[in-house]
Amino acid sequence: MGFYNDIILPRLCDLAMRNKQLLPFRERVIGAAEGRVLEIGVGSGRNLPFYRSPVKEILALEPSPKLVAMARGAADSGVPVHFLEVSAESIPLDDGTIDTVVTTWTLCSIPQAATALAEMRRVLRPGGKLLFAEHGLAPSESVRWWQDSLTPAWRRISGGCHLNRPIRSMIEDAGFGIERIETGYIPGPKPMTFMYEGSARPQ
Ligand SMILES: C[S@@+](CC[C@H](N)C(=O)[O-])C[C@H]1O[C@@H](n2cnc3c(N)ncnc32)[C@H](O)[C@@H]1O
Repeated sequence: MGFYNDIILPRLCDLAMRNKQLLPFRERVIGAAEGRVLEIGVGSGRNLPFYRSPVKEILALEPSPKLVAMARGAADSGVPVHFLEVSAESIPLDDGTIDTVVTTWTLCSIPQAATALAEMRRVLRPGGKLLFAEHGLAPSESVRWWQDSLTPAWRRISGGCHLNRPIRSMIEDAGFGIERIETGYIPGPKPMTFMYEGSARPQ
């Protein structure tokens, strides 16, 4: 399992995240970031080339050493990047010190996602924003049935990815007010492709 988790899984994650259909989401989400940014689960660094002024600094949090190594080699946008090789359930930053938290296709995989969202809210300054693009629970009952049925096996081979997480209510339950949200399918198997994109602020 060590070889699969440490060597194969990071490469599969990178391969999946190269999907060109995700690029417009990355452009929009990262284009709205500003100031001191904390990106949660930066993975192989697929968002890093999109950061521009007014982003001043990126704190790139990622628990997988292999993915951190890949992200270090990602295209450089000129904005300083500092890596935090830790899990999002315990963020080693002071309260209210971050202007923007970014999470893209990560809330599906974080084991204790509610704890991680509470940590994101804690480190955001009052008036700061959470920017997200995630896949999750679909509106249709038939797709939800597949999401619930596939998730136990899927999470074992995909690094803990849940297909059926209710992204909007998870964010709201953590004490954020949704400012903007857009949802819908992108092309591909429906259980994997219902997207939530938007922004939220601590309430
Ligand atoms: C599907 S990948 C997405 C990577 C990246 N966000 C992107 O958009 O390309 C999921 C990411 O969640 C990360 N992850 C899993 N558990 C985590 C945790 N407890 N804290 C932070 N990140 C975690 C994985 O290591 C992986 O980088």
